Parts: sequence; C-alpha cells; structure tokens
Amino acid sequence: MLPCASCLPGSLLLWALLLLLSGPASPQDSEEPDSYTECTDGYEWDPDSQHCRDVNECLTIPEACKGEMKCINHYGGYLCLPRSAAVINDLHGEGPPPPVPPAQHPNPCPPGYEPDDQESCVDVDECAQALHDCRPSQDCHNLPGSYQCTCPDGYRKIGPECVDIDECRYRYCQHRCVNLPGSFRCQCEPGFQLGPNNRSCVDVNECDMGAPCEQRCFNSYGTFLCRCHQGYELHRDGFSCSDIDECSYSSYLCQSRCVNEPGRFSCHCPQGYQLLATRLCQDIDECESGAHQCSEAQTCVNFHGGYRCVDTNRCVEPYIQVSDNRCLCPASNPLCREQPSSIVHRYMTITSERSVPADVFQIQATSVYPGAYNAFQIRAGNSQGDFYIRQINNVSAMLVLARPVTGPREYVLDLEMVTMNSLMSYRASSVLRLTVFVGAYTF
Ligand SMILES: *[C@@H]1O[C@H](CO)[C@@H](O)[C@H](O)[C@H]1NC(C)=O
Ligand SMILES: *[C@@H]1O[C@H](CO)[C@@H](O)[C@H](O)[C@H]1NC(C)=O
Repeated sequence: MLPCASCLPGSLLLWALLLLLSGPASPQDSEEPDSYTECTDGYEWDPDSQHCRDVNECLTIPEACKGEMKCINHYGGYLCLPRSAAVINDLHGEGPPPPVPPAQHPNPCPPGYEPDDQESCVDVDECAQALHDCRPSQDCHNLPGSYQCTCPDGYRKIGPECVDIDECRYRYCQHRCVNLPGSFRCQCEPGFQLGPNNRSCVDVNECDMGAPCEQRCFNSYGTFLCRCHQGYELHRDGFSCSDIDECSYSSYLCQSRCVNEPGRFSCHCPQGYQLLATRLCQDIDECESGAHQCSEAQTCVNFHGGYRCVDTNRCVEPYIQVSDNRCLCPASNPLCREQPSSIVHRYMTITSERSVPADVFQIQATSVYPGAYNAFQIRAGNSQGDFYIRQINNVSAMLVLARPVTGPREYVLDLEMVTMNSLMSYRASSVLRLTVFVGAYTF
C-alpha cells in the first residue's frame, strides 16, 4: 500500500476502492514465523507483541495532509479529508478486519471525542475542524470534549457579539488616549514622550535632542527656552541671537569712542590717552613716561593729549636766568626800572568745556613783608576776558576761568603781583607767566 501522497481532496471513494483491491497487510502472515519481521507498507514490526502494527502516518509524516485537509489515520494508510467532513465510522467497518485488535467500536465515544487507531477516545478539536459555531468576532477555544467561544482581549461580549472596549473612557492615559480595535494607545502632548509604562508622559529634554537654539538652551517642563550669551539678544523667532549694539544704547558707555563688537563693545581713546578701567581715557604723561623727544636744553611740559618741549632758558634781555624757571631784571639795569622785577614761568593744562566759573590756579606771594600789601591782576594774555582774578587775601589770589573754552588752545597769561608798602612808598611788581594748555577733549 502506498502512502497517501496521491490522495486528493474528495478522492475518498477512489481511496476506498484502492483499499478494497489491494487490501491491508495480512496480519495472519505475520503471525506464522516467529522470526518474521517484515511488514507491508503502512505497518511496522512490533517486537513486543510480535505483530505488525499500523503506522500512524498522521503523526510520523510531516504535513501528511496539505492545506485545509485533516489527516485521519487508518490501517495501512491514512485519509486526507476536508476539515468540515465528518468522520464516517462505518468506513472502518467496510475495510477488511484490522490486524490487532480488530476495529470494533463497542462503545462509541462520548460527544466531543472520537476514536483513534488505538481504540481510545481522543478529544475532537472543534475549533481546528471548524465544528464550532463561534461568531467571526469571537475566538474559539478547544476544551476536552467541547469548546468555548470567547471575546478577544479588548472586546466585551454584548449579546452574541464581541464589541470593542473603549479603554479611553477609563482614563488609562495621562495625556491623550486613542482607542483602537481591541486595544488603545496613549499619546503625549508636544514636549513629552511616553514613559516606560506607555501611559504616563515624561518631559523630553529638547536641549539634548538638538533643540534649535542658536546659543543657550534651557529645558523646562514640556518645553524649552533659548537664551543668548551676554551681549546678544534673542530674536523674535525665539531661537536665534543677534548682537546688541551697546554703543547705540548709551553715549556714556565710553568716555571717548565706543566700538561695537560681536557680543561686546570696547572703548577707544584718542592719541595721547590711555584706557583706564575699560571706559575712561587718561592722559598719558609723556614727560613722566619718558616717551618725549625733548632735548637736554629743553624742559618737557605735559598737557592733555600731548606734551611740549620748551627751552629751559626762557629769559630774554634784559632779564637774566636765575633758576630753571625764574628770570630776573637786575635793578642796576636802567631798562628794568619800568619792568616787573621777576618773571616766573609756569605751565598748566585744563580740559575743554569746563563748567564755569572754575578756579584753575592759585597764586601765592612767596615773601611777606610786614605792612606790605599785595594786589593781583592779569597783565597780559586775557584779551577776550576768558579769565579773571579773585583776590583771596593780601598774599594770595585765584585765577578763575570765566567762560567755557574749547581746545586745542593755548593761553599765555601774565599774572602780576604788585607789592605796595604805603609807609615806605614802596612799589614792586613781579610776574607769573602762566601757559595754559586747553586739551581737545573734555577728559
Ligand atoms: C510599550 O510599548 C512598546 C511598543 O509598543 C512595547 O514594546 C512595550 O512592551 C510597552 N511597554 C509596556 C510596559 O507596556
Ligand atoms: C598783609 O598780610 C601780611 C601777612 O599776614 C601782614 O603782615 C600785613 O600787615 C598785611 N597788610 C595789610 C595792608 O593788611
């Protein structure tokens, strides 16, 4: 007998015919010689019972039946039947008597069971054989002797049908819930992502995930914020940063010139000045620092924004030099009779645009004679009246700037001190030749 590879659906009659013509192995043959161990096709030798035993091809041949066919073992062969086909018990009886034991069914199996080739009752898988009446919406579960129709997970039985459960009604999700056939899905608001339990929402750190901040990023609950470095301001788009032109904000940032730079600004001073405390301009004292070009015979005079080299000997006839800055007109010289007896050279520097009146220089008599009186006046160099003298007492006076002046400019003022002694009819004059440099700037 050939294996039933040639069996085709619906060929039950043909198979039955073949079975009758060729017949199964003859068990009587195998009973005679003890040493006989050969069996015909579809049977195998059982050394225990010393008989040929039917092979259950449904178990031993992989995919004995293809497709939707179910496999039914039979003596010496097997059947492939449509799953819906009922097993006809008479089929066993129609064949020749089975070898051992005979195919008798004295006790038909209880409902839900069917006999196997060992003559015991095995459960019928009603679900696999489409012998159930479960609805398409229901799952069929095989049970010993019967089966059960149940609703899939996420469905609930209402009447005969299974209906999807709307899990979203039960507030399973922290943010948003989407009901799906048989299940649901939680969704989170922007800036959040599902937590490990797929229900709660946890903050997303956008800064770690490439948030589009141009400079600085700060994560916050559900969102993020862009910030800019100092000296930049956040653009209206909330992401990019643009340089702040600090110089345009205030003219007081720098004492002199303000230069805007990316993220910052810097102050610059004119020539002859140096930057002090990042925003102030301080005059460089070239005379002090040695940066001047004055010769040995010259004296260096510093002023705001520069310096001047003056001849150390500034005395002109009939004056003679008596010290570095003092010239004397000898009383013995007749030319000196109407001249101040001495001229002392002094230098000072002031800035432009000073608020006025401003005390700029104090004159002090160096020698005081009992009973003498000193009067002070500006003898020369004040043609426009930019200065005046305020007498303090009979030995000192103050030079006062009367008008705001703008440099660069230079005054040479002859400040005269006249000493009078009425008792002795004595009158003497001495001059302080004061050079006033006015710098070009207010600093
Ligand atoms: C969350 O969902 C993912 C993807 O759907 C799944 O792999 C994971 O097992 C779920 N976790 C829990 C706790 O349900
Ligand atoms: C001027 O001051 C000096 C010193 O204080 C004094 O000796 C002198 O008498 C004063 N002269 C007059 C006129 O006040």
